[in-house]
Amino acid sequence: MAGIPRLVTAISQLLLTCIFLTRAVATFTLPDRCPVFFKSHSQRECDPITPASFLPASVRSASKIRSKYVVDNIVFADFLGALNVTQSEFFAPWLGTWPDAIDWTAAVVGTHISGAARSISEDLVFLDSDKDSVADWRRISSLVDKYFAQIIAYYFGQDALTIRNEAYDDILWVVLGWLEAVQFVNTHSDLHYTPAGLDRSEATLGITDEILGGYTRTPGQPYHGTIWIPAFSHRARIFWNLASHGWDTKLCNGGMVWNPRLQPYKNAITNELFIAASISMYFHFPGDNNESPFSNRSDKFNPNDPDAKVPSEARDARYLKAAIEGYRWLRNSNMTNDHGLIVDGFHISGYLDENSNNTSCDVRDEMVFSYNQGVILTGQRGLFDATGASSYLTDGHRLIQNVIKATGYSLRLDNPVDDSLKIRPGVLPRWHGLGRLGVMEEYCDASGTCSQDGATFKGIFFHHLTAF
Ligand SMILES: *[C@@H]1O[C@H](CO)[C@@H](O)[C@H](O)[C@H]1NC(C)=O
Ligand SMILES: *[C@@H]1O[C@H](CO)[C@@H](O)[C@H](O)[C@H]1NC(C)=O
Ligand SMILES: *[C@@H]1O[C@H](CO)[C@@H](O)[C@H](O)[C@H]1NC(C)=O
Ligand SMILES: *[C@@H]1O[C@H](CO)[C@@H](O)[C@H](O)[C@H]1NC(C)=O
Ligand SMILES: *[C@@H]1O[C@H](CO)[C@@H](O)[C@H](O)[C@H]1NC(C)=O
Repeated sequence: MAGIPRLVTAISQLLLTCIFLTRAVATFTLPDRCPVFFKSHSQRECDPITPASFLPASVRSASKIRSKYVVDNIVFADFLGALNVTQSEFFAPWLGTWPDAIDWTAAVVGTHISGAARSISEDLVFLDSDKDSVADWRRISSLVDKYFAQIIAYYFGQDALTIRNEAYDDILWVVLGWLEAVQFVNTHSDLHYTPAGLDRSEATLGITDEILGGYTRTPGQPYHGTIWIPAFSHRARIFWNLASHGWDTKLCNGGMVWNPRLQPYKNAITNELFIAASISMYFHFPGDNNESPFSNRSDKFNPNDPDAKVPSEARDARYLKAAIEGYRWLRNSNMTNDHGLIVDGFHISGYLDENSNNTSCDVRDEMVFSYNQGVILTGQRGLFDATGASSYLTDGHRLIQNVIKATGYSLRLDNPVDDSLKIRPGVLPRWHGLGRLGVMEEYCDASGTCSQDGATFKGIFFHHLTAF
């Protein structure tokens, strides 16, 4: 899908700006989240031995004497521009999808559009409360609704029946996508439509009151988007149930298999997705009493599905358990290389040999892709929020530091390791494992040979980086 490389390039060129932008986001966290970067009153819910900073100790002291980073508003304008191009050139409203996208990349783009709508909604809160702001508020709120309407269209445009028979990673992108849409609706509703009289929480900063001036807010009227929460959550639940059949203990002592119809491959992405989707189900799935397609008959796609009859509730412990077990397996699977980056996955030697009784994951695919360093971050952050165990945060911080290093950027020097002035024309700067000169790159980027898959990876990394 040609729209994505532009979006991805714009975003990845701003690698470091984005990292500091996430600091701005982190100060404005949702109530159930604990800030990682800064001390704040809501840290009371956090583990007291939580790492106080993302930066390694040696860098932290140096950064105190450096001038403060300023959030660059141009990043936000570029983000709106990229969003507009993606949606005006590649989304087809009459089909409710991005026709050039394959199933999984469409699910990912849908996820990003929901995430983007949530960011714009959060930004609305920071509008000044002068007279012009009501007009501004209506303009931006219409922008939010424009993208949300496209997400609703995609709910029907998504080829949900076909994806049921695809690989487990394809199925899991669907779960993350609809949970992201649920989070957008909840955030937008909480920030701007919470009925007066209830605790409106510190997140609104009291500004929306002045902006709205009673103009758009009718007491007792929640955001219209809330009617879609049951539909989105239902699809997330159906797809999580389908994916959970991919966990198997006969091979490699556990782990998700990538595709049940191919020779077993226990890969990073399927396992990271299962962890991230499970912990996101634990936090964001509100429960579901829609029994379709199970009601009074077996699921015709999956007649023996033991989950069909299990009622599903909010904060269901089985999602937390799945995330914890998935993470334990992944962490013990030796999927991390010498750069501290997560490689692609494991095959089993001699699997097709009738005389072999090998069951262990012993043939490692050493390819490194940016998205394999990303999706797990949502898992680690969620597991920390759910359990309070700071090891999940420490693992996440270490991985992010390793990624930055593998782009050729030194946190200690606060500069690329290689001198850009010494690069000769026509010669590529040195490769550091996941990029060069401090810019994240896939292997396929330099030669311009990325498929739609590779072109989508960096956007996925940055989407999940915002969990920190
Ligand atoms: C959005 O993108 C379309 C197509 O690229 C362009 O024609 C339009 O001017 C853009 N709108 C804004 C507000 O940038
Ligand atoms: C469920 O199936 C049974 C037997 O087939 C039938 O008697 C009952 O009315 C059905 N219930 C619903 C809600 O459709
Ligand atoms: C981990 O994987 C590497 C690369 O395949 C291998 O050299 C090493 O022996 C493995 N370590 C363990 C403990 O299995
Ligand atoms: C079984 O696994 C061992 C250890 O990983 C390996 O040396 C051997 O070649 C495998 N057997 C077959 C038949 O591939
Ligand atoms: C695998 O098979 C060999 C003989 O082919 C046997 O000695 C060994 O105990 C078996 N290992 C397991 C784990 O079953």
